[in-house]
Amino acid sequence: MATLNRSVVLARRPDGNPVEADFAVQSAELTPLADGQFVCRNHFVSLDAGFRKWMNEGAGDEVLPAMALGEPVMGLVLSEVVESRNADYAVGTWLMARFAWQEYSVSDGSDFIARLPGELEFPPSAYMGVLGDTGMSAYFGMTELGVPEPGETVLISGAGGGVGSIAGQIAKMRGAHTVGIVGNADKGRWIVETLGYDAAVIRGDNLLAEIAEVCPNGVDLYFDNVGGPLLETAIDVMNHRGRLVLCGAVSGYGDEKPAPGPRNMFEVVTKELSIQGFMTHFRHERYDEAREQLAAWMREGKLISPEHRLQGIDSVARAYADLFAGRNYGKTVVEL
Ligand SMILES: NC(=O)c1ccc[n+]([C@@H]2O[C@H](COP(=O)([O-])OP(=O)(O)OC[C@H]3O[C@@H](n4cnc5c(N)ncnc54)[C@H](OP(=O)(O)O)[C@@H]3O)[C@@H](O)[C@H]2O)c1
Repeated sequence: MATLNRSVVLARRPDGNPVEADFAVQSAELTPLADGQFVCRNHFVSLDAGFRKWMNEGAGDEVLPAMALGEPVMGLVLSEVVESRNADYAVGTWLMARFAWQEYSVSDGSDFIARLPGELEFPPSAYMGVLGDTGMSAYFGMTELGVPEPGETVLISGAGGGVGSIAGQIAKMRGAHTVGIVGNADKGRWIVETLGYDAAVIRGDNLLAEIAEVCPNGVDLYFDNVGGPLLETAIDVMNHRGRLVLCGAVSGYGDEKPAPGPRNMFEVVTKELSIQGFMTHFRHERYDEAREQLAAWMREGKLISPEHRLQGIDSVARAYADLFAGRNYGKTVVEL
């Protein structure tokens, strides 16, 4: 096993959307394992917009402490145990874990870890995307909270990203008319042709009119990955007793202070809207069920999982910047 470990560290706190120069790659020697520890080879890094929040000074909360300058950046990785002094983690076990962006991680099992099945039926990176936190967020958001009915209109922001690309397909399977909000026309064509959305609209000044055109019956369910002005627009186009499922708010992760909320909250009252947020993290006990259902849909050819994949630890920073610049089509991963 290699003794040198390369890690992506937080070189400076991002100002707004992260850029490559916010990160640096550093090397350090791996130290010998203590009793109870095991070392994992991280095969894939998952790039997740939500981790941006903990890059801000003082952003620690019950989920994660704020990331420290000069320290490895925390994220989700797909790992294989390669050496172990912990009887619960045998060599060869595959894990999806909240470890840092590095080639090797040492753990004592107290980290946030989900074990993968003994035999991997799908390519390993699928367990980071469609069968990982990303796909499960779409699954819980659509099947437990949003629950679209046949014929309803579902509007999804960040529709061509990791979560949005799966959420749209699940809504379509349930018989909904699905409309995705994306950042540009190319991605709009892609979500219709590749993911099966019924229509795409482009975020920008003309968004309200574009939504009105492709949602002639209004919107019954809004699945939000972006927040900010898009949430306000969504409230405007919701039908009476519409549901809003808040999965994320990527447009505000770079803000030092929370941005002002939607100005049209009184419409929540007059239209009797329901708004519910959720964290996949708090549904740990349902991960096996979610993974099994998502896998079944993949086996049946009903669900695809496109990836924006880069190679090597030196590409991790670029991949993360791509996600915030909207250059990702589907789930963003780096193969180490
Ligand atoms: N609740 C949970 O448990 C949970 C779990 C996982 C993820 N999430 C959330 O799900 C959302 C999607 O996460 P992801 O990691 O899969 O990312 P992603 O959807 O792959 O990428 C984010 C997309 O959002 C759009 N975007 C990025 N920056 C933006 C900005 N400043 N303003 C407006 N749009 C912007 C871009 O698409 P366009 O340019 O095409 O618009 C980009 O492709 C995030 O909000 C994340 O926090 C929540």
